[in-house]
Amino acid sequence: MVVGSYLNCVRLDGAALMELGSWSHLVGRFIAVATAGRLTAEERREVDAWLESEGESRIYWEQPVADQRHGLEAARMIVAARPDRRDLIRAGLLHDVGKRQANLGVIARSMASVFAKLRMPVRGSWRRYLDHGPLGAEELAGLGSGALVVEFARHHHGRRPATIPGEEWDVLRSADR
Ligand SMILES: [Fe+2]
Ligand SMILES: [Fe+2]
Repeated sequence: MVVGSYLNCVRLDGAALMELGSWSHLVGRFIAVATAGRLTAEERREVDAWLESEGESRIYWEQPVADQRHGLEAARMIVAARPDRRDLIRAGLLHDVGKRQANLGVIARSMASVFAKLRMPVRGSWRRYLDHGPLGAEELAGLGSGALVVEFARHHHGRRPATIPGEEWDVLRSADR
């Protein structure tokens, strides 16, 4: 099964090329997580300006440094594209807060992702890591973070929901790369 799935990834048709894209994304995220630096005092002020409650502040700063930086970089990309849309910027900033519920290091995260790509069974903290979108969305909904923030967290690894217009989805997804 593993070999069959692997071979699926190296076919050179359209679907396989999309899968290769996903694999390269995995490698890119591994490197980013392994090399992320702490946010500076100025960057922390930049983040705090987008957070709207004590609860949001708690779950953002509970994240590992790499996820803090990833959220900030996503928010900055959205600021560059749509500086007038605070809700989009906040959606980018907060979309991965659910990952901290799994409490996994970079190696375990990568293993969980590879197992999922190979359609192997995944449970426990690895399952929570793979479900970080919906898990984070539930937390954000409980904090009253706003519909777009909640919906992007929930769906950011899947298909665009009807609740997010295509143009906004494209901005958000581009920022999450
Ligand atoms: Fe994510
Ligand atoms: Fe992300």
